[in-house]
Amino acid sequence: MQTIIRMIENNENFTQIIKEGVKYLKNGGLVAFPTETVYGLGANALCENASKKIYYAKGRPSDNPLIVHVSKDYDLYKLVKDIPEKAKLLINAFWPGPLTIIFNKNNCISNTITGGLSTIAIRIPSHPIAYQLIEQSGLPIVAPSANLSGRPSPTQAQHVIDDLNGKIDMIIDGGNVKIGLESTVIDITSAEPIILRPGFITKEMIEQIIGDVNVDKTLLNVNTSQIPKSPGMKYKHYAPKGELFIVKGQLDKVTYTINQLVMQKEQEGYKVGIIATKQSIDSYKRGIIKNIGNRNNQEEIAKHLFAILRELDQIGVDYIYVEAFNNKDFGQAIMNRLIKAAGYKVINTD
Ligand code: TXA
Ligand code: MG
Repeated sequence: MQTIIRMIENNENFTQIIKEGVKYLKNGGLVAFPTETVYGLGANALCENASKKIYYAKGRPSDNPLIVHVSKDYDLYKLVKDIPEKAKLLINAFWPGPLTIIFNKNNCISNTITGGLSTIAIRIPSHPIAYQLIEQSGLPIVAPSANLSGRPSPTQAQHVIDDLNGKIDMIIDGGNVKIGLESTVIDITSAEPIILRPGFITKEMIEQIIGDVNVDKTLLNVNTSQIPKSPGMKYKHYAPKGELFIVKGQLDKVTYTINQLVMQKEQEGYKVGIIATKQSIDSYKRGIIKNIGNRNNQEEIAKHLFAILRELDQIGVDYIYVEAFNNKDFGQAIMNRLIKAAGYKVINTD
């Protein structure tokens, strides 16, 4: 299949490209587009065959459900059984935006998109390209991240091209995304709301609106045999090809340890990557060094994380060492993705 790639450059071609995308979506095709979090791979949520194509193109396990994206005027009751009071408050506070809410699904929704679950994940994206595409199609659009299953999520069109060129109908290039990590996922179907995937909308931000919420304990725990509540969180994920290790502790000990490890691995003949910060970059002398940004600026780190993992893949490094980050606020999401990408491998220097 030939994939059409279109770059948004100005208002006129924006209108034209959205129209083209809508045509593919209405015909059951697959269109990748930027959202404020990561690039998504969209299809008509009401067309079972289109949703099946998404699983095939991504190589995604069929029990991993998809998020349905809608516009503001879409009648949610076409998708859900009920809208709990807490969900209404969250919708008011955070939609359109990077928060996905799990509802009890309406019976008419196909099991294909919910991975056989009785619940359905929904969000309204705020990115103008995503939003216009969805609104003008008049459809609910399922959109997982537009990467091959297991790879880091795409934060620029080139990442989508690298993973899905020739497998989908269209890629809309809207430049780099703003946030760089996927939406927060919260389940409000039981009395105690629970965060299933941390993201830009933090636990603290949510608690200001609806009071106490839990966080799925399996998300950050290294030594757990429990299965995460969100099916997608149980798979090896966000993983670069090189073997990734997180190094934790005081910064000077961390940089010392990473330097030792890099020297050792290079002597053994391996190519080694380091993910450094503004604060530490001058401490590293060997290896392939990437600057992820200021460690006190979580938004900057989140925005660069997946792109750096992909860059190190392209260089073909065998090992990657990354410094651990503060686990507070948006840092929860950063560390959650890193821990999964590292397959839970953490070196503690304390
Ligand atoms: O930011 C995002 O959410 C991006 C953009 C494109 O919107 N999308 C995204 O989709 O990250 P995906 O498919 O890569 O991740 C969806 C996550 C998975 O972990 C999946 O298991 C979970 O949401 N999920 C979907 N439906 C669910 C449900 N009914 N119950 C629990 N978890 C669910
Ligand atoms: Mg994904």
